Amino acid sequence: MNTMNTMLPETGTVKAVRIHSFGGPEALCLEEVPLLKPGPDEVLVRVHAAGVNPSDWKVREGQFGPLPLPRTLGGDFSGVVVALGSGVTDFFVGQSVFGHSAYGGAFAELVAVPVSSVAPKAPSINDIEAAATPLCALTAWQALFEVADLQIGQKVLIHAAAGGVGLFAVQLALRYGAWVIATASSRNLPCLCRLGANQMIDHNATRFEDTVKSVDVVLDLVGGETQDRSWKVLKNGGRLVSTVSTPSPEKAMLCGVRASKMHTQMRADELTLMGDMIANGEIKVMVEKVLPLCRASEALELSRRGHVRGKIVLTIDHDTSHADCP
Ligand SMILES: NC(=O)c1ccc[n+]([C@@H]2O[C@H](COP(=O)([O-])OP(=O)(O)OC[C@H]3O[C@@H](n4cnc5c(N)ncnc54)[C@H](OP(=O)(O)O)[C@@H]3O)[C@@H](O)[C@H]2O)c1
Repeated sequence: MNTMNTMLPETGTVKAVRIHSFGGPEALCLEEVPLLKPGPDEVLVRVHAAGVNPSDWKVREGQFGPLPLPRTLGGDFSGVVVALGSGVTDFFVGQSVFGHSAYGGAFAELVAVPVSSVAPKAPSINDIEAAATPLCALTAWQALFEVADLQIGQKVLIHAAAGGVGLFAVQLALRYGAWVIATASSRNLPCLCRLGANQMIDHNATRFEDTVKSVDVVLDLVGGETQDRSWKVLKNGGRLVSTVSTPSPEKAMLCGVRASKMHTQMRADELTLMGDMIANGEIKVMVEKVLPLCRASEALELSRRGHVRGKIVLTIDHDTSHADCP
């Protein structure tokens, strides 16, 4: 074990993708920011790859309210620990880790993160897979097993099954022995079929409520009209979990179901569990596009259009000209 608590110089700058005001793609800039130091319960991580989530462009647009600015975007990351906070004993400098920074900062060469949101990365998982995992895998896990309390043999309808959260949810539900109905557009149905989904619905061609009845759980990753049309497919006593919009308590009561919007919690033990499942080949990580950090703006726009299959991941090559584009 490396007993050093840092392998960084005292001063300097790193590249980071930041916003100084909320807005569209023009709000993003790649700039030099002062070197960070980890807080007492934090590790400082040299980021090798950063996963893109819809929350990143929602933060950029100011959808999460007036967060303090300037702000470095990005939550999910994979990399190597380069410095330890004074109270950190469970990690070592040089350790490969992955995790999620709830306060942003992952679209940068270095990110400081509380140890409660970091887990060791197995050598068999590459940085791109690890960076694609934290928020989506934990959202899928918590939605299915902690909020919806999905049981073996139950029927679950997963909307946006080919997205970042959806692909983890489909695999986790199937592994647990649930019957999985997945909605996606036609180009994504073969992928869901290969994963073993029991029923697939092209949401552009078929209204899901015309073919689906009596499901135990709806995992709503779309919201709006999709959520509204979901009430009638639930059986009495069923559960609707949305990651997007708060379901109406009145409609839930009328339909005799429990419904809630969830907020994913970062937990190191669950990150470790997801990492183990990936390392063991129990679940696969699907990444549609890999881009360098300097193309973060393009990555966020792709995500915002809402048709990514699996994940987009940004990479940072520390050996060449930092995060600069050629
Ligand atoms: N509350 C929380 O704590 C939390 C945590 C994580 C995520 N979220 C939110 O949950 C949502 C999903 O996240 P994500 O990362 O999975 O998003 P994502 O990866 O961007 O989802 C993209 C997928 O959505 C599918 N899609 C779009 N419209 C659809 C529709 N009407 N019916 C079925 N599929 C549709 C697309 O498939 P096609 O191209 O095939 O249509 C695409 O594959 C986002 O709004 C995100 O911000 C919230």
